[in-house]
Amino acid sequence: MKLSPRLAALAGLVPPCGYAADIGSDHGLLPAFLLENGICRGVAVTDLSAPSLEKAKDLFRRRGLSADFAAADGLKGLSRPADAIVIAGMGGQEIIRILKADPAPARSAVLVLQPMKNARELRLFLTGNGFEITRERVAREGRRFYQMFAARAGEQTLSEAELWFGRHTENTPELSAFLDAREQKLRNDIRRAPGNLRLRAELSALCEVRTWLT
Ligand SMILES: C[S@@+](CC[C@H](N)C(=O)[O-])C[C@H]1O[C@@H](n2cnc3c(N)ncnc32)[C@H](O)[C@@H]1O
Repeated sequence: MKLSPRLAALAGLVPPCGYAADIGSDHGLLPAFLLENGICRGVAVTDLSAPSLEKAKDLFRRRGLSADFAAADGLKGLSRPADAIVIAGMGGQEIIRILKADPAPARSAVLVLQPMKNARELRLFLTGNGFEITRERVAREGRRFYQMFAARAGEQTLSEAELWFGRHTENTPELSAFLDAREQKLRNDIRRAPGNLRLRAELSALCEVRTWLT
């Protein structure tokens, strides 16, 4: 099975382990890949939406794979502790809500998180709630870029620039292209809304990150 660049990058952040959970799995491609490639020995596949979960069940049936399936909100679908928990493809605020609602299973796992937006808020939440981010990467699919990271229970302090763009982000062509595209967008947006302090803060963080990479 060949994954899209985003899902392949996520799979690369999952440590080899006994049991992984994919929360909000939808199509089920990521946990199927984890099993078929021996990255983990068992998986939990959950989704809030029963029709979405059916897609994953169908994929597993066709590929002769088994999993613990649950139609459930966030980590409530876990029937046993997971070594790694993936929460990808939803908004950062929803990921925060899921982690806040059930902190115990999250604290004993490696978290692999990919917010579609509000990555800064998610990093801030992790930092303030006893998690440290250990790896970061950016994936690219056409014109879209995806920030994603692995975290675990621990302590960390992040600077403003690190809150926006991460501390341990792998220095790859995808990161350079992401920073270029983001800078262009921010400069355009600031021209239209020169008083927007959030845009200016992100641009200033971006310029600082560039100095680390050169
Ligand atoms: C855009 S899909 C992402 C699918 C997959 N994780 C990926 O990254 O390709 C988001 C999925 O998350 C599910 N979802 C949203 N909120 C959820 C929650 N609180 N608990 C479980 N699943 C949720 C949705 O039903 C949907 O299937």
